[in-house]
Amino acid sequence: VMDIQWYPGHMTKARRQMQEDMKLIDIVIEILDARAPLSSRNPDINRIAGSKKRLVILNKADMADKNATKQWKKYYEARGIFAEAVDARSKTALSAITPTIMKACAEKLERDKKRGIMNRPLRAMVVGIPNSGKSTLINTYAGKAAAKTGNKPGVTKGKQWIRLNKNVELLDTPGILWPKFEDPKTGLDLAFCGSIKDEILPTEELALELLRVLMRDYPELLKARYRLKEIPAEGDPGAAETPEEAARLANPALACMEDIARNRGFLLSGGRIDYDRTARTLLDEFRGGKIGRITLEQIR
Ligand code: G4P
Repeated sequence: VMDIQWYPGHMTKARRQMQEDMKLIDIVIEILDARAPLSSRNPDINRIAGSKKRLVILNKADMADKNATKQWKKYYEARGIFAEAVDARSKTALSAITPTIMKACAEKLERDKKRGIMNRPLRAMVVGIPNSGKSTLINTYAGKAAAKTGNKPGVTKGKQWIRLNKNVELLDTPGILWPKFEDPKTGLDLAFCGSIKDEILPTEELALELLRVLMRDYPELLKARYRLKEIPAEGDPGAAETPEEAARLANPALACMEDIARNRGFLLSGGRIDYDRTARTLLDEFRGGKIGRITLEQIR
């Protein structure tokens, strides 16, 4: 489906820069989309970050399934990576980050202390794929009060640091990682979230794929949002009594899409279903968090 070169030249350059910048920092803050905590991750980060301390931010947690987010936080913590779930637009939601950075870098702080170095802020770099919320996080976290600190001894000329508070400063340009699409499911998850252009699949097909996930994992949210009496189930069309029933059994996602269209009145002349409008609405409402708090990847 996606036979495209996903690693354009400027990304190679950006990556080299990121690797260079790693030398300057104590901790890598990796921003993920909490609705797709694996798909929104670039596996290269393990190699780029090397042995640096790591903090995963499950961002957009306001739109993700609370329970799933809790499990994903544990998943990362079990792998030696600190994790926090946040809404990067909310200052209070970000308040957990500084203490976690300090916890993650406790050894370094201890070393500094032994050497008599006091109040040297920890240095962090924010990385993530486009649209994960890097700029939002930096803006909210740093706020108006944050002062950009200029060149300092030991810092590559021209590097800008944002002083967040007395404990932490951030490299002011986020590291942009490219998503990887080795598994087609990754591309789908990112398209559902609106993180990559819809062009990977026609809108209708994309919406049907989303419906399949929602019908399986969040049937009650779907029923409530679109006032559905039931979620169509797959079955043997041969056992059906009418052609309509046979079609529903053969393709339950399509049947569900048609039920949604009828309930919303998305009909064309002659009562035909407006599939395009229905598909667009489904995708828009998912992306806007209107269907409910949903996570596309479950730890099973
Ligand atoms: P980037 O730098 O990593 O590319 O991402 P950026 O901060 O630009 O954020 C991408 C979009 O995601 C923005 O929306 C931003 O408002 C939204 N966003 C970031 N963090 C969160 C969060 O924690 N929760 C929610 N609900 N949204 C978040 P946009 O599409 O550019 O505009 P709009 O949606 O604000 O209209």
